[in-house]
Amino acid sequence: MKTAIYPGTFDPFTLGHDDILQRALRVFDEITILVAVSPAKKALFSQAERVKMIKTHVESDPRIKVDAWDGLIVEYAKKKDINAIVRGLRPTGDFEMEFQMASMNNHLYGEIDTFFLPTGGKHYFVSSSLVKELYKHGRDVSEFVPEAILKCMQK
Ligand code: COA
Repeated sequence: MKTAIYPGTFDPFTLGHDDILQRALRVFDEITILVAVSPAKKALFSQAERVKMIKTHVESDPRIKVDAWDGLIVEYAKKKDINAIVRGLRPTGDFEMEFQMASMNNHLYGEIDTFFLPTGGKHYFVSSSLVKELYKHGRDVSEFVPEAILKCMQK
C-alpha cells in the first residue's frame, strides 16, 4: 500500500489544500493529513480544533487519516513507517523554502522523499492567513474553504 503524509499547519484547511489532497489520492492509497507545528506561526485555531475540523470534512473517505504532531515530520514518518511527504507548490515563492525543507527532511531520514504537486490554478493565490483576514472582516469565504470547515469556523 502506498502511503503518504500531507503535513501543514492548516489554520484553517482550505480548498487549496483539498485540491492537493484529492490529486495526491490518485497516486497514494492512503494519506495522513498531519496537523503540525510551524514555529513561526501563531495559530488562530488550536491543534485539536484543526484536527476536529479536518476530520469533519474528510470523515466519509477511509483513505484519509488525520493526526496531530508536535515534533519533526521525519520522526512521525519513521514511527509510522511512511516514506512519502506530499506538498503543494504555489508560484508565489514557495519553491526555495520547500526545496530546503525537503532536502533537510531527506538528510535527517534517508528513507523519506517529498512529492510536490503544483497548486491548482484556482487556488494559487489562496493562503490560510488571507482566508482568516477576509473572514475577520466579515467577507464570505465559502469559495476558499470546504463547507464542513466553514461550518466549524462559524461555530
Ligand atoms: N493552496 C492554497 N494555499 C496553500 C496551499 C495550497 N495548495 N499549500 C499551502 N498553502 C498555504 C497555507 O495555507 C499556508 O498559509 P499561511 O502561511 O497563511 O498559514 C501557506 O501556504 C504555507 O503553507 P505550508 O507551506 O503548508 O506551511 P505550513 O506552515 O502550513 O506548514 C510545516 C509547515 C508544518 C509542514 C513545517 O513547518 C513542518 O514540517 N513543521 C514540523 C517540524 C519539521 O519537521 N520541520 C521541518 C524541519 S526540515
